[in-house]
Amino acid sequence: MDYQELIEEVYQEVQEENLRGKVANYIPELATVDPHQFGIALVDLKGNVYGVGDYQNPFSIQSISKVHTLTMVFPKFDTQLWSRVNVEPSGNPFNSIAQLEYEKGIPRNPFINAGALVITDALCSKFEKPVSQISDFINELAGENCVEINQAVMKSEKNHAARNTALAYFLKSYKNFDNSIDEVLDVYFSHCAIAMNCVDLAKSFSFLANDGYSIFANKEILTESHARRVNAIMLTCGFYDEAGEFAYRVGLPGKSGVGGGVAAVMPHKFSIAVWSPELNEKGNSVKAIRALELLTNKLSFSLF
Ligand code: DON
Repeated sequence: MDYQELIEEVYQEVQEENLRGKVANYIPELATVDPHQFGIALVDLKGNVYGVGDYQNPFSIQSISKVHTLTMVFPKFDTQLWSRVNVEPSGNPFNSIAQLEYEKGIPRNPFINAGALVITDALCSKFEKPVSQISDFINELAGENCVEINQAVMKSEKNHAARNTALAYFLKSYKNFDNSIDEVLDVYFSHCAIAMNCVDLAKSFSFLANDGYSIFANKEILTESHARRVNAIMLTCGFYDEAGEFAYRVGLPGKSGVGGGVAAVMPHKFSIAVWSPELNEKGNSVKAIRALELLTNKLSFSLF
C-alpha cells in the first residue's frame, strides 16, 4: 500500500466536496485560525512519515490531549481509576453537566470534560510539575521537542471557563476532586492549549497502534493490556455523542478536539492525524471525519 498516494487521493476528494462547518468560537482565540486549512499525516510502525496539505502547521489539539493525560494517569492507578470515572459512552455533548448529577458525580468516561477534569485532578496528585511533565511526556512520545503551549489560547479558555469551572465544583461536591480547583483548571486549560502539527500528533499516538510500545520513545509506554483499553475507550467515547457514527463511518479508535484535529490508530499498522478547523454541530471536524471515512473505505478495512 502506497500511503502517500492514498492520503493524497483522500485529500483531493475531500477538497472537491467543499464541506463546510463552523470554527469553534466559545474559546474566542480558536476562532482566529484560518478555517480553510486541512492537513493529513500518517505514520507507519517503521517510522515512515507521509503528509499532505497543511500537515506541518501547528494547531490547538484541545481534547486530543485527554488521551495523553489518560495515558500518564492510567498506569499510576490501574483499575482503581474506574472508581472515579466510568468507561461508558455518554451520548451527550462533551461539556454536558446533566448526567453528572443523576450519576452522583462519576463522569461517564475520561474524554467528556467532566471525566477529563477528574483525570487531570488525578494527574495533579501524582505529578509535581504537571504542565511541564505533560509537555515532556508528549515530546517523548513524538520523539521530538514539538510541544508548545499556546498561551493566548490557554488564557482565552481561562477567561471563558464558566462551564468547566461549574463541572469542577460539581465534582468537588461529590468528593470526586482532590486538588485545588483553580490549579487543576490551569493544568487542564494548559494541556488543551497544546499546539502541535499533524506529524508530531500522529507520532504521539503511534504507541497505541503498536500494543503500547513507542518506536519514537524507544520504550513501552503502556502495557499491551492498558493500550487495548485506551483504544477501546477511544472507539466508544472519543467523539462524544458522535462516537457511534464515527465507529460506523470510520471504524477506528480515535479522538477529536475542538481545534479541528482528529488522531486515530489502525492497530498494528499506523497512526494518523487529520486537521481542519471547521466543526460539525457535535464539535468534531467535518473534513477530518470525512477524510478518515474515505481512507478506511479505500483501504477496505478498519478495525472490523
Ligand atoms: O474544555 C473544553 O471545552 C476544551 N478545552 C476542549 C473541548 C474539546 O476539544 C471537545 N472536542 N471535540
